[in-house]
Amino acid sequence: MADKLVVGASGGIGAAFVKEFTQREPEARVIATSRNGSDSLLPLDLADSASIDSFVARLREMEFTLDQIIIATGLLHQDHRGPEKSYRDLDADWLTQVMQVNAIGPIYLLGKLIGLLDRKAEVQISLLSARVGSISDNRLGGWYGYRASKAALNMYLKTLSIELARTHKGIQILSLHPGTTDTALSKPFQARVPAEKLFTPEFAASSLLNVMQQAEGSGSGQFLAWDGKTISW
Ligand SMILES: NC(=O)c1ccc[n+]([C@@H]2O[C@H](COP(=O)([O-])OP(=O)(O)OC[C@H]3O[C@@H](n4cnc5c(N)ncnc54)[C@H](OP(=O)(O)O)[C@@H]3O)[C@@H](O)[C@H]2O)c1
Repeated sequence: MADKLVVGASGGIGAAFVKEFTQREPEARVIATSRNGSDSLLPLDLADSASIDSFVARLREMEFTLDQIIIATGLLHQDHRGPEKSYRDLDADWLTQVMQVNAIGPIYLLGKLIGLLDRKAEVQISLLSARVGSISDNRLGGWYGYRASKAALNMYLKTLSIELARTHKGIQILSLHPGTTDTALSKPFQARVPAEKLFTPEFAASSLLNVMQQAEGSGSGQFLAWDGKTISW
């Protein structure tokens, strides 16, 4: 039985992925991370390239055969900082931090992880993006930093999928939108979300695992929502 890697297992949706795996594939070993680590989670801070390097070095020392990698980390707000309503709110340090956690950290980590994999490995790699990262779907404006970081993540993933199609034909890359889900990330922005449109983390994780399963064997570099529908870039 192959192993699973869940990055961001301390988050609402990340923790639900780990729970789902223990129910769906009780035999599988789930390697899981959080920013600071704990008894059951390995430390991995996507804002710190040294932390990424030491996580990958630690993984290299473990005996593992991954068939699924899920990156479920993300940053929308922290302390008094959050998504911008207007160009007047733009703050260079915050824009940089959001881009680092949501786009640069994940692609740097992926580059290192792919270096650990056999060229013939069959691995599905799924990253949690967001529909607001779609440029063609942007009708409301606002949320400059988060939108741009998810659009950048999507571009990194599409680019990686094209390169890997030449060298690692068994690797599939998916960019996924979980739907609005009741977690710490969305908490301050839930007021106008109708109850039936606010998913539990368990529903989001279970729906996305079904989407991943259905996507097996189809193209790499897809942007898919929780219901399996393609989102335009
Ligand atoms: N919730 C929604 O409505 C919604 C909608 C669309 C897309 N998404 C996307 O879904 C993903 C999961 O979100 P969520 O709702 O589960 O959020 P969440 O509960 O706030 O979890 C966020 C996760 O990201 C991790 N993280 C934050 N900064 C990090 C860093 N520097 N290095 C490593 N890990 C870091 C957190 O780790 P620590 O706990 O260790 O800090 C936590 O595991 C995100 O990509 C988000 O953008 C969510």
